[in-house]
Amino acid sequence: MNIPQHVAIIMDGNGRWAKKQNKPRSYGHFVGTDNVRNIALKANELGVKVLTLYAFSTENWKRPKEEIDYLMSLPAVFFDKFLKELMEKNIRIETIGDLSALPIKTINVIHKAIEKTKNNNGLTLVFALNYGGRNDIVQAVNEIIKNGSITSITEQDITNNISTKNYPDVDLMIRTSLDYRISNFLLWQISYTEFIFTDCYWPDFNGDMFLKAIEEYSNRQRRFGGLL
Ligand code: FPP
Repeated sequence: MNIPQHVAIIMDGNGRWAKKQNKPRSYGHFVGTDNVRNIALKANELGVKVLTLYAFSTENWKRPKEEIDYLMSLPAVFFDKFLKELMEKNIRIETIGDLSALPIKTINVIHKAIEKTKNNNGLTLVFALNYGGRNDIVQAVNEIIKNGSITSITEQDITNNISTKNYPDVDLMIRTSLDYRISNFLLWQISYTEFIFTDCYWPDFNGDMFLKAIEEYSNRQRRFGGLL
């Protein structure tokens, strides 16, 4: 099987999943957080190098404060429960997005996990937090401008200065819950990405479904605009 090096997931449908069973939206996010562990372990087992998860977008600040506060408490819940296991499985934690706007407690918990796992060399599990794809491109350009008087830039300049500069381009993007949109997730990084959309809500998206998605990816012919 041809294992993608970099998989990105838009973990959508926590709210709808909860509503279906008359539970508050927060319960969907809670179970969705447990599911991050399941899918990360599966990705690690399969030999995926980087798994980038859209946990909080720059647009998610539009949600009610109560929901935002709850989402911001989830990294602590996640790492309290699973950091030990992530260490055992050699998984490294990293983030993309502007963490500085997050509550200080959330930032601290995340920094601790990044620090503790920084020498692990299995899967790199990247949380996109306060992340927006357009913003990512703008900050890359600003970074380039900072480095001297520039009259023109290349694609490589952007690639070298964008948040994912240390990772390969995204090979496969999965979106759960059957909405067909990118929602300002990785924009620069998806020029030749393969997409898989599933009707499954994120809390129900299990390891077997992830494996099926990898199998489907593996059967696709990627031509990158050329001929076979
Ligand atoms: C989309 O569902 C999901 C989110 C906006 C949040 C996703 C976050 C997690 C699963 C937790 C992340 C975990 C850590 C450790 C940071 P939705 O609320 O848009 O669902 P809906 O479209 O059905 O309303």
